[in-house]
Amino acid sequence: MGVRADDAGVWGWQPSSRAGGSNLPSCCRAPWQEGVCHRGLWFRRLLVEPIVKVMFAVYAARIDRDEPLSGLELGERPAPEARPGWSTVNVKAASLNHHDLWSLRGVGLAEDKLPMILGCDAAGVDEDGNEVVLHSVIGQSGHGVGPKEPRSILTERYQGTFAEQVAVPTWNVLPKPKELSFEEAACLPTAWLTAYRMLFTNAGVRPGDSVLVQGAGGGVATAAIVLGKAAGLRVFATSRDEAKRKRALELGAVEAVESGARLPQRVDAVIETVGAATWSHSVKSLKPGGTLVISGATSGDRPSHAELTRIFFLELKVVGSTMGTKDELEDLLSFCAATGVRPVIDEVLPMDRAREGFERMESGEQFGKIVLTN
Ligand SMILES: NC(=O)c1ccc[n+]([C@@H]2O[C@H](COP(=O)([O-])OP(=O)(O)OC[C@H]3O[C@@H](n4cnc5c(N)ncnc54)[C@H](OP(=O)(O)O)[C@@H]3O)[C@@H](O)[C@H]2O)c1
Repeated sequence: MGVRADDAGVWGWQPSSRAGGSNLPSCCRAPWQEGVCHRGLWFRRLLVEPIVKVMFAVYAARIDRDEPLSGLELGERPAPEARPGWSTVNVKAASLNHHDLWSLRGVGLAEDKLPMILGCDAAGVDEDGNEVVLHSVIGQSGHGVGPKEPRSILTERYQGTFAEQVAVPTWNVLPKPKELSFEEAACLPTAWLTAYRMLFTNAGVRPGDSVLVQGAGGGVATAAIVLGKAAGLRVFATSRDEAKRKRALELGAVEAVESGARLPQRVDAVIETVGAATWSHSVKSLKPGGTLVISGATSGDRPSHAELTRIFFLELKVVGSTMGTKDELEDLLSFCAATGVRPVIDEVLPMDRAREGFERMESGEQFGKIVLTN
């Protein structure tokens, strides 16, 4: 972390006795030590130069819908400043989510919020030296934000975790279980929390039930396979890639088939994050009365076959799901600590090689989570 005088910062001014003590208008704020303003008043600049701490960060500098990585930059950004009710965390590890690519495409991130440090997940050390994990939904409980502020995910409104430090409302800071490494803990707050809520809150499945996980290689998908297996579910998976299907079996899926291929049986629930490319297959794979839980649409949100007739005729349930609550994150951390379940990590890279991680995620080659470390 370094410091530099902020060129764009606010200059302090001290009118001299000859200036009659009046406040000087902004047009007089020229960068000289002494001078005469437009009213002929002599003044002396107060020797105050705001010091801004800077840190290394990975951030969205521009939005590009077609070539998202062209807007990705690595370099210096201002470090977070202390604010009441918020904590600053030294980031040890942070993990990539498809959300970060969506942000670079301008989905959920407006131009007027740029530059924006990316990254929703992190584990690190707080100001008191505690090892912590962040809950990245800000404003869910009203803590640390204005009373009418809608909830947001880090990087939508507040700077993200791909940096040396990140600031969040203190309410959003949870203790990291000692059983989990920083890298493992950093995988949990977004993709794994989403999978946890999809399975155990929204799909309504019980041990012994069957579930289909689409797009086995994804961060949410690998989480759903591992969590589902650990909770006694019969997990089926699909992937476009044979090697990923093999890995899905190793993680505990009872069967892994090519995307779109018929399953040996219909399932009680489907965990859908791929969207348009797998939607029809998801609907067709459900038992009557089954539940399709959707939290993402990586391949697009306009399926060519919506299967509406099948949905109403078989009384299927379609449930939207987004992130999870702080309580659910606490339960997930405890579940991992107690069962020995650990996030599936594809690759760990130092933060300054973040671009490689983004490229891998964009190409869809990864199996599990890509983690960046400081
Ligand atoms: N609502 C929420 O709170 C929430 C939270 C987390 C994620 N999400 C969303 O969920 C989605 C997945 O996120 P993630 O971080 O898990 O992403 P990811 O790690 O990049 O995984 C995406 C997976 O989708 C599959 N896929 C992509 N294009 C496909 C296609 N055309 N046909 C079939 N499969 C395809 C791939 O699996 P295979 O290569 O194995 O086929 C790929 O591994 C994203 O859209 C993300 O924005 C939403």
